Amino acid sequence: MKKSVRKAIIAGNWKMNKTRPEAKELLEAIKPLVANAEGNVEVIACVPYTNLETAVNTVAGSNVKIGAENVHFEKSGAFTGEISADMLTEIGVEYVVIGHSERRQYFGETDETVNKRTKAALAAGLKPTVCVGELLWERETGITEEVIARQIKLDLYDVSAEDVKKTVIAYEPVWAIGTGKTATADQAEEACAFIRATLAKLYDDATAQAVTIQYGGSMNAANAAELLSKENVDGGLIGGASLKAADFNTIVQAAING
Ligand code: 13P
Repeated sequence: MKKSVRKAIIAGNWKMNKTRPEAKELLEAIKPLVANAEGNVEVIACVPYTNLETAVNTVAGSNVKIGAENVHFEKSGAFTGEISADMLTEIGVEYVVIGHSERRQYFGETDETVNKRTKAALAAGLKPTVCVGELLWERETGITEEVIARQIKLDLYDVSAEDVKKTVIAYEPVWAIGTGKTATADQAEEACAFIRATLAKLYDDATAQAVTIQYGGSMNAANAAELLSKENVDGGLIGGASLKAADFNTIVQAAING
């Protein structure tokens, strides 16, 4: 992490977990634990749509921010089952995860729709976290950098330098998600540094230096400190470990101390 240059962000991605009472209970437990992160590390919980209003109300007055897990790119209309950016901001949501590999794998998300969602989120004042990362066989065949560069270029197509500074990139190797297999700290650093170099080519070095790049994929209380010690790893997007207040807090504390 390079906190003097860019914001460190620890975000939970709760995925399809927690009812409203459970969400309230978990956030009430997290709030006091991470209060010391204020002004040092941004703490976010990205929760299912049904929990958003409860979550925003529960964290009011604390340093915990709330994000959604997806957003549609149109403002309104005949898109059954979808949620617009304005619907999210109206509740008080500030962040949104876009292009998570689970959406790419199971719900037909493409780089084109990731790009549209990212632009719609930015236009509405939401801060997008755009997820990129390679499949296991892409890593094994040696095309990790090609895959990531393609995703970055397409996902951020037509996004201005000013807007990309409001965008978080999450490097999430698909083979490390929910598998217990973490990328080594060196692998995470290599990929995050490559993403920054790609941003520098697309924009300029100062812009690339300003973008927060997270690592995600089986980050947990035991491995967070080592991952976060790397210069280009500016935080984490955490699945399973974000559902346990104590584990999530250990990761936040590692970021505060990193
Ligand atoms: P896990 O931390 O459960 O591997 O999930 C990572 C992830 O997908 C965060 O978006």
